[in-house]
Amino acid sequence: MTLAELKESAISDIKNAKDAKELEAAKVKYLGRKEGQLTNILKSLKNLPEEEKRKVGPEANALRQELEAALDKKLKELAKKSSVPSIDVTRPGVKVRAGHLHPLTLMENDIKTIFAGLNFSIVEGPEVETEHYNFEALNIPANHPVKDMWDTFWIDAQHLLRTHTSPMQIRYMETHKPPFQIIVPGRVFRFEATDASHEINFYQVEGLMIGEKVNLANFKYIISEFFRQLFGVNTEIRFRPSYFPFVEPGLEVDIKIQDPGSPLHNHWLEVMGAGMVHPKVLDGVKLNPKEFQGFAFGLGLERLAMIKYKIPDIRLFYSGDLRFINQF
Ligand code: DAH
Repeated sequence: MTLAELKESAISDIKNAKDAKELEAAKVKYLGRKEGQLTNILKSLKNLPEEEKRKVGPEANALRQELEAALDKKLKELAKKSSVPSIDVTRPGVKVRAGHLHPLTLMENDIKTIFAGLNFSIVEGPEVETEHYNFEALNIPANHPVKDMWDTFWIDAQHLLRTHTSPMQIRYMETHKPPFQIIVPGRVFRFEATDASHEINFYQVEGLMIGEKVNLANFKYIISEFFRQLFGVNTEIRFRPSYFPFVEPGLEVDIKIQDPGSPLHNHWLEVMGAGMVHPKVLDGVKLNPKEFQGFAFGLGLERLAMIKYKIPDIRLFYSGDLRFINQF
């Protein structure tokens, strides 16, 4: 084989090498210390006649340098190619941290599910209300001392942050014809000092059922069923007479839960206000109290979540403390 033929085949082998391994094989084939084709030629130089040695020697050495340079260049090319990130399918993935629902959202979802199962519609109302809907239409007159129960934040002379979800009773009755049954979950506000059981904002769920013959016995069934599903079959409920301007009679609902692990075990707890919608309220929305009647109730979401999850302080819900939130 002539040097020219050797060169041609070596250069083509180097060029076509697909990876470092093939390149190494080409290097061994031509420049390998023991059996490399060019190495063999270089080794045999010493047996050549002086004249030929002088001619072939420099050519062969030049070729060796050329091949070494070509190998070097190709090696760098291959290295660059293999540094393009490849996918290691066996490498463990980076876990995406999923968030989760806030305990009050969990509670609200539970409540919605139960009432939806009892054929109640779920509606929402505005957080900024007028004085009319928050008070007057609910039979709470402007200068009546009962208004002290619902001190709030005023936006201007007529607009305020609603103190309860009850205004939505009015808005709904104004626009719908009975019979109907709704719940209204939503955020409410109070201007008051905070402590373990009071916050300046919290959540309520209002309930309203109006029809021709809806009465307190219906309410008792609905609310017993609600608490049975929420806290279990051993939950007892009782009614106590109470006063709210928008109902007559008005009452307070207490529950007693059986949960030996809880400090609330076997204690009566006040959980909601309720009553039969006041005839004046029905009159105000142009429903004839002789034709239609029904019950309303309002419960505090935090209170129920505190009972269910054994949370001692209402302020924890809004503290943003991950040590608390991550427990749910
Ligand atoms: N709105 C009342 C409050 O925030 C709770 C309430 C009491 C709602 C009696 C009602 C009801 O619908 O009938 O204190």
